[in-house]
Amino acid sequence: MDQIDFQKTLKHERRVFMEQTEKVNFDSGELTIVFGGQWGSEGKGEIAAYISKHENPDIGIRIGGPNAGHTSYDAAGNKVMVQSLPTPSAVTGAEAVIGAEGAIIPSLLASELRDYTVRNDKMLDKLIIDNCAVVIDKRHMEKEKSLKDSIGSTGEGVGAATADKVMRTPGIVARDNQEMLSAVLGPFVNEFEILPTVNYLNMRLSKGAKLLLEGTQGLRLGLHTSDYYPFCTSRECSPVALLAGTGLNWKLAARFEVVMVVRTYPIRVGGNSGPLPGEISWEELQRKMAEFGKELEPEKTTVTKKVRRIARINWTDLYDAIEQTSPDCLAVTFLDYEFPQYSGTVWGDGCCRFMDLPSEIRKYLSSFFWVSGTLVKYINTGPNCVTKLLY
Ligand code: GTP
Ligand code: MG
Repeated sequence: MDQIDFQKTLKHERRVFMEQTEKVNFDSGELTIVFGGQWGSEGKGEIAAYISKHENPDIGIRIGGPNAGHTSYDAAGNKVMVQSLPTPSAVTGAEAVIGAEGAIIPSLLASELRDYTVRNDKMLDKLIIDNCAVVIDKRHMEKEKSLKDSIGSTGEGVGAATADKVMRTPGIVARDNQEMLSAVLGPFVNEFEILPTVNYLNMRLSKGAKLLLEGTQGLRLGLHTSDYYPFCTSRECSPVALLAGTGLNWKLAARFEVVMVVRTYPIRVGGNSGPLPGEISWEELQRKMAEFGKELEPEKTTVTKKVRRIARINWTDLYDAIEQTSPDCLAVTFLDYEFPQYSGTVWGDGCCRFMDLPSEIRKYLSSFFWVSGTLVKYINTGPNCVTKLLY
């Protein structure tokens, strides 16, 4: 028996043993990754919320930090805004895991847990923070003040805290701050733990749990690979980076799906935030919307409240994003900007056949397929108007 056959046999034997002794079903674990294919604010929160409401993941996972705000709606239609909690936890009460590359502002996370309690009249069941997630403090925010003007940073301190972590500064990760975190967060959640989440998540996945890993920001903001340095964020935002930041082994998943979210009109944060190919003015888009009797307020960032910069979709960028990440499907958001007449439309109660969409939308979505070779699985036409497409 050669080495590879031997390893396979050993793995099989181990699985059979565990299936029998622990009554584990190894073939049911699911991992879904939702990530942004542009400059962030693609509406990942709403796609993650849709998947949460329809597929009920057991665990929602977030890394990155509070410099990204996700907005979505729960089943009762309440608006849910989170900068720290995973959307599946805030929307459907899934167990929340802040992974190893996470960065938290404890008081902000506490206020999101408090909001959850108010909306649901009960506390969130479980919050786990990785031993090595970094704790942002005032010094980190102070350090980032100057970046707000120079590169359009949100100034939440995520980059400064991550830099401290890279320099192996003592005392800054969750494990070093257990007492403080338990005091600040403990009262707002039924069960709170700080532990090494890498093994924990892989164990849960291999034993059949459904995991939703929610990306923040977007591929074009990646620190190393976006080619926009220094006009980028303090980390990589690709699905591979999300896996690396959580330590998740996707090969343990019986079903693994990567959803790339893209807008019809991509945006960047306002101010001096770097190149944005195909940039247009809000007035141009407002005129187009007005032809259909629709008003459009220029978008502002969830965190900084600055008016965002907006552009036409760039097909070359989409092609490059696909080549870099090979997602399993696309979610196309802000379809209402391209087709104001369908603003706020949900087809088939949230799930319909592609063939049943209006012909102009079918034609437009076909361009995404022709450029990317990837099917559009979700579309959104306005806040809380996601439709899942069947083929
Ligand atoms: P980041 O990680 O910060 O990039 O967040 P995100 O991708 O989750 O996006 P975010 O929630 O910050 O911004 C999207 C905003 O647009 C939210 O207010 C959503 O409710 C809203 N939104 C999402 N999809 C659509 C859409 O299709 N049309 C319109 N008009 N609004 C949408
Ligand atoms: Mg946002």
